[in-house]
Amino acid sequence: MVTRINPSILAADFANLEREFGRISTADLAHVDVMDNHFVPNLTLGLPIVERLLQVSPIPLDIHLMIEDPDRWAPAYAEAGAYSVTFHAEAATDAVALARRLRAIGSRAGIALKPGTPVEPYLDLLDEFDQVLVMTVEPGFGGQSFLASTMPKLSLLADAVREKGLDVWLQVDGGITEDTIAQAAAAGANTFVAGSSVFNGDPAGQIERLRSAAELHSHAH
Ligand code: DX5
Ligand code: ZN
Repeated sequence: MVTRINPSILAADFANLEREFGRISTADLAHVDVMDNHFVPNLTLGLPIVERLLQVSPIPLDIHLMIEDPDRWAPAYAEAGAYSVTFHAEAATDAVALARRLRAIGSRAGIALKPGTPVEPYLDLLDEFDQVLVMTVEPGFGGQSFLASTMPKLSLLADAVREKGLDVWLQVDGGITEDTIAQAAAAGANTFVAGSSVFNGDPAGQIERLRSAAELHSHAH
């Protein structure tokens, strides 16, 4: 199985983002957290900055939209050239229609679930998405502790993906460290977002340590 490590630039130095991208060039995708002060109580960056990041990043961008009304705002990120655009199930009016629009524009379409959002309503819709993001903290801030209570959702997703023979990436985001990544990998995640654990140290080394730990505990083994 393929393991993907996506550093979250929320933990990077926002005054030196081009330099920070250079520190994570061995990662698979760079995770960009877009927050609007409405869906979550925090504000980060939006389309103009993402457009510039797309020009300087050495790796594809994985956009995580923590915003209200993604039906209105998400397609522009796909049009700008984002490799992957993930919006929240709790915020979307018509998740399937939005995912189809994102795919038609040419990006991968992801749907994100907050820790308290059940996954069951989405299990029969998995072919409409390229990625499901199971939030392992409440969205809004980096540096929080991993919520193991979310792991049963990953197991349900992994079983459904296998039964249907799909290739949907199963992503976790929040509190991922060398310790917690093992639980998420064992539950079925294959795409791991890590912010503070990558940037608060030696990013290249930490990316490889996370990758090794995930592969050691992978569900597929
Ligand atoms: C939180 C964001 C995460 C955040 C993770 O709402 O979606 O991507 O950057 O940060 P860490 O890895 O520090 O928990
Ligand atoms: Zn995120």
